[in-house]
Amino acid sequence: MIKISPSLLACNFARLEEEVRKIEKGGAHYVHVDVMDGHFVPNISIGIPVVDALRKITKLPLDVHLMITDPDKYIDDFAKAGADIICVQQEACIHLDRTIRYIKDLGKKAAVALNPSTNINVLEYILPMLDMVLIMSVNPGFGGQSYIQYSTEKIKSLKKMIDTMGLNTDIQVDGGVTVENCHEIKAAGANVLVAGSAIFKAKDVKKAIQQLIEN
Ligand code: DX5
Ligand code: ZN
Repeated sequence: MIKISPSLLACNFARLEEEVRKIEKGGAHYVHVDVMDGHFVPNISIGIPVVDALRKITKLPLDVHLMITDPDKYIDDFAKAGADIICVQQEACIHLDRTIRYIKDLGKKAAVALNPSTNINVLEYILPMLDMVLIMSVNPGFGGQSYIQYSTEKIKSLKKMIDTMGLNTDIQVDGGVTVENCHEIKAAGANVLVAGSAIFKAKDVKKAIQQLIEN
């Protein structure tokens, strides 16, 4: 089953609740929250209070993507604020095994994001512990960038690795996902699509979500 996780980064933050209602009505499965610290990525976005506020207005699972250095320091706070999925960047974690165990011990779903240039082999030993792998198909930091074409090959290799190990780990793709390229991304093996611009900048949010599922 294909799941859609709209990235709030492209929404109108002055009307956050309305934007969440739009994606709920449109059939979104998750809410993707991009947390940026100005260190791991060259941009600053939103954090714990916004996750807390979102938790109070929606039942959709909060898919929290931490693009921050030293995420271990903040995992408790995001868990308490109501994150359902906590995704850390592999490049930001020196002791990734420990970080993942910590997220799981809190009863949350654990995911690891890989930057475009990071090889999927870094996940070989911890893959059985993960609920989801996030393939970044742009360099993280900004919405509205173009899909990096080699990501498709990377998704295929990851899918092969997951199947060979007999797992059913979700494969999420984030960055430059559109109604035009979503078919090749899903055909490669991805089952969770993050989209910011393609959903929130569309005239009809519901139609965009449906097209991402059906195209
Ligand atoms: C990029 C973020 C993405 C971003 C996607 O650093 O992780 O979630 O908001 O935006 P689009 O879909 O516009 O590329
Ligand atoms: Zn993201």
